[in-house]
Amino acid sequence: MNVQDPKGIEVRTVRALKDNYCYLVHRAGSALCLVIDTSEFAPIQDELERAGLRLGLILNTHHHGDHVDANEDLVRRWDAPVYCSSHDRSRIPNAVRGLDDGETFEFDGMEIRVLAIPGHTRGQIAYYFPQAALLFVGDTLFSMGCGRLFEGTHEEMCHSLEKISSLPPQTQVFFGHEYTEKNGAFALNVEPDNICIHARLRAARESMSADRPTAAPTLAEEMRVNPFLRLKSPSIRRQLGLEGARDIEVFASLRRLRDVFQG
Ligand SMILES: [Fe+2]
Repeated sequence: MNVQDPKGIEVRTVRALKDNYCYLVHRAGSALCLVIDTSEFAPIQDELERAGLRLGLILNTHHHGDHVDANEDLVRRWDAPVYCSSHDRSRIPNAVRGLDDGETFEFDGMEIRVLAIPGHTRGQIAYYFPQAALLFVGDTLFSMGCGRLFEGTHEEMCHSLEKISSLPPQTQVFFGHEYTEKNGAFALNVEPDNICIHARLRAARESMSADRPTAAPTLAEEMRVNPFLRLKSPSIRRQLGLEGARDIEVFASLRRLRDVFQG
């Protein structure tokens, strides 16, 4: 567990399963919280009890089991409503409300905006908290990487990443998995002269060896190290032999290489 308090909103990172991250979000001083993704009941419930929080809302980023499997148990324990993408409403357990791109709703004084970011899945959405510039991206973006394309196209994923990149640079990004180590190895492979990647890897290893979640970077920080957000990098393009290519071609090449990367 890890507590951050940017501008009056606290985020508690809960580690679950092998490498999933779920997030408890609440106003500083308020005991009412929401959870983003529900990989596993016990670690979420333990953190709620430890922090003295009450669960009032469940948000899912997409329908994969490792992001929704504890919905049912959490609903039974807390009677909290489950919101997700309209697209996923029929395939997410206990969902009572479907959300659409650009929609805004409020929870305990916190404004939350929905961003459709398809690519990993058709219904993948992100939750953006504009007051504190917090973004929860599920499996679309990871530290130095991006999600696999299970249901979407390269074009969709590329567009979703552009959409994320257009948010304010100080936006703090919270990922659905801890993949820093392997993504960092891949990032170094395609951009060996990027010294910021080494710094990110070093910081992540320090956190992990202290049994802590890795820190959520800002978008500005992520754009310095994540090859999928650096499609114009001359160094990456040279490495791929795609100097004159369109961004989408660079993206597709990176994604294909990452799919078969052994580390
Ligand atoms: Fe997923």
